[in-house]
Amino acid sequence: MFCMFSEGLKGIVAAQTSISHIDGKEGILIYRGYEIGELNHMSFEEAAFLLWYGYLPTEEDAMEIKKKLNTYRELTPAMKAILHSLPEEMDIMSALRTVISSLGIPEYNWKPTIEQSLRLTAVIPTIIAYRFNIVMNRPLFEPDTELSHVENYLYMFTGKSPSKAVADALETYMVLTMEHGMNASAFSARVTASTESDLVSSITSAIGTMKGPLHGGAPSGVIDLLNEIGVAEKAENVIRKKLLKGEKLMGFGHRVYKTHDPRAIALRKKLLENKGGDPALDLALFVEKKAIELLAEMKPGRSLYTNVEFYAAAIMKSINLPSDLFTPTFTAARIVGWTAHVLEQAENNTIFRPQSEYIGKR
Ligand code: COA
Repeated sequence: MFCMFSEGLKGIVAAQTSISHIDGKEGILIYRGYEIGELNHMSFEEAAFLLWYGYLPTEEDAMEIKKKLNTYRELTPAMKAILHSLPEEMDIMSALRTVISSLGIPEYNWKPTIEQSLRLTAVIPTIIAYRFNIVMNRPLFEPDTELSHVENYLYMFTGKSPSKAVADALETYMVLTMEHGMNASAFSARVTASTESDLVSSITSAIGTMKGPLHGGAPSGVIDLLNEIGVAEKAENVIRKKLLKGEKLMGFGHRVYKTHDPRAIALRKKLLENKGGDPALDLALFVEKKAIELLAEMKPGRSLYTNVEFYAAAIMKSINLPSDLFTPTFTAARIVGWTAHVLEQAENNTIFRPQSEYIGKR
């Protein structure tokens, strides 16, 4: 058998997929044959349908998905009780992972289905909003069945329907980040599914993986970076110091993209459409330019550019979503990609079992 060691599985093809394709050299991302730029104006429901079923929905298909997501939004009394009982200091991702894990009932047993996927996708925003409001000591809201998936997510934090511009900005973010090939959390979900474990276990694994700062946790790091810089004049100094200390700049670099991340470009475009003369956006644009310059100077040959997290942070900031909600919101989008991967894995399953190279004492 062919055996090769590759740290972090870099360059190893671990599965064949028809869900999405990333061309890291050209900066192209494709969902089921469609370039991400073409899908910019799709609703969450339509994009989810495309990823699950593999083709574009008709109007009736999209309505059906909307209706189903609506039906499965509510939390059971048991889920609410868990959310109330968790320690106050527990972060939202851990709370989400715990509640999702508690759904491990026979309904979700192998083999995974689109219906199971819909149920988990529908309930995740409710869990996030409910937990956030518990911890913040704010009133708790039930889902509004009249609203779309993304509108309802925003509604549940405040009990007020969001403006079209705000819902639109978040929807663009959620569509663009729904799926991204064999990233660490999708891999986790597939590894768990490959043992013929249930969908709930796969998604619990994926949420735990998403929580790490090198994957889903970067937007909060970007806000910290922008806050630390504060004004454009300080950008060069702060960035230079960080790079000299060997620190990584959050929101830059990508395992696969060795040019601009197409999702960052699409989000940047969206932000520029909706905003005019916003000082926070001006600062983000300046920091992006300066950081790319300094990364090229101090890390030559590494091809480090802005990744999706940089503009995700800018979009979340522009719609006033607190940073505690960045990674959970990313998760509420990525659940679609994870479930699509699990469904694909189940269709042509082989258990994942790589080897390790022993370097210890003999
Ligand atoms: N800031 C500064 N240097 C960076 C960097 C960053 N954001 N990202 C990579 N580098 C440097 C590394 O220090 C390393 O330099 P070296 O050759 O001198 O050791 C080189 O580029 C390769 O880095 P490596 O971590 O091996 O690249 P990777 O492809 O394995 O990592 C990430 C990809 C995303 C983990 C990495 O770029 C990173 O940590 N970025 C910041 C976190 C982030 O924004 N995550 C969100 C991803 S969507």
